[in-house]
Amino acid sequence: MIDIAYAEWLELMFRWLHLIAGIAWIGSSFYFMFLDYSLQKEEGLPAGVKGASWNVHGGGFYFMQKYTVAPETMPETLHWFKWEAYFTWISGFSLMIIIYYWGAESFLIDKEIMELSQWEAIGISVGAFISGWVIYDLLCKSPIGKNEIALSLIVFVMILLAAYGFTHVYSGRGAFVHVGAMVGTIMVANVFFVIIPNQRIVVNDLIAGKEPDPRLGEEGKQRSTHNNYLTLPVLLMMISSHFPMIFSNQHSWLVVGLVIIIGGIIRDYYNAKNQGKSGSRLKWQWPSAAVFMLILMVFISYREDVKVAEDDQLEANDVLAIVQTRCVSCHAAKPTDKDIEKAPGGVKLETIADIKKYSSKILKQSVLTNAMPLANKTKMTKKERQGLGDWIKRGMPVEED
Ligand code: HEC
Repeated sequence: MIDIAYAEWLELMFRWLHLIAGIAWIGSSFYFMFLDYSLQKEEGLPAGVKGASWNVHGGGFYFMQKYTVAPETMPETLHWFKWEAYFTWISGFSLMIIIYYWGAESFLIDKEIMELSQWEAIGISVGAFISGWVIYDLLCKSPIGKNEIALSLIVFVMILLAAYGFTHVYSGRGAFVHVGAMVGTIMVANVFFVIIPNQRIVVNDLIAGKEPDPRLGEEGKQRSTHNNYLTLPVLLMMISSHFPMIFSNQHSWLVVGLVIIIGGIIRDYYNAKNQGKSGSRLKWQWPSAAVFMLILMVFISYREDVKVAEDDQLEANDVLAIVQTRCVSCHAAKPTDKDIEKAPGGVKLETIADIKKYSSKILKQSVLTNAMPLANKTKMTKKERQGLGDWIKRGMPVEED
């Protein structure tokens, strides 16, 4: 078994790489979406060029032209854009292994939701990633794939079903990250199995002096448009683990639906804008995204009432006792939980003063949501959560004796 401290370094390095590769991938993908939409017909463009776009950046002017199928002869050097996507997936899947597979008992499994062994949890995860891609790919290639709107709706429902499934198998946090990872896997697989191979066939045809099939380019374009619309929602799912209000919610699969709608609408605004659209075509997106955001906020806002009857009110010592049984196995200077080496997030909860110091975080993590104790390993009860919350809300009285 690798030492926990090394695991943390591995996590840091892969997270760093994941961010960098993701930024590079999304940045280039946004740029090419923009470029595509900004192309305009001009006088004197070479044969086979659909349009051109003038850009200014970094002290110079760029004149970009797009050959919709391909130029007549192959240029000597051709720049491909694929490693950004591959490394985003490789680093992301490494993080999945380090955090959620290796630490399955803490981060992925919640025994109150489903009694899974570590290997069962991992098996379901890998199976879901593979079948998510296979089903999506079959849908795109089926006759439904010709109807863009029908296809989008079906893919949307498919993601919702997956989210519903994950939330009934894994912990809230694990479920949300899995939806993001499944969609992210589909996006990278689009690049790996469709966009790049199609492009390669076109290049080979050109070298062989054959006329390439325009369908190959269209198929690539369809997949890259899907990727474009899914980018913003996936990013939110990836950072969701920092926000218990998002994932620690009975209906978090509906949250997924709203997040996809909001992210998709915002992307549509930019896509339309890049095409030079104006007027009413650009007016509806931000207001409706704002309305959906409000619905999301109201929908997931904490509505649990933590007030308890006067007889059930806890005193500081009762609270300390609860925290000592439910939290300090991890949140101590020297944790006793076998998976934890240091107090997570620097949060130590060994004294009343500690509890006071972190009271607002404790409210968010253990009272208003069930994010902590992690995977409810220490079996905190609902009554304890309410008593703790009530004591915090009453201003954390400490009786002198
Ligand atoms: C099984 C171990 C474990 C137990 C038990 C546990 N925690 Fe945690 N806690 C963690 C881990 C791990 C993290 C860091 C989570 C992360 O990486 O996002 C954490 C993070 C936190 C944070 C910091 C969140 C932030 O915003 O940085 C708070 C607050 C917290 N826990 C409170 C509690 C309380 C209160 C209890 C008891 C009711 C508790 N925890 C029980 C493992 C545990």
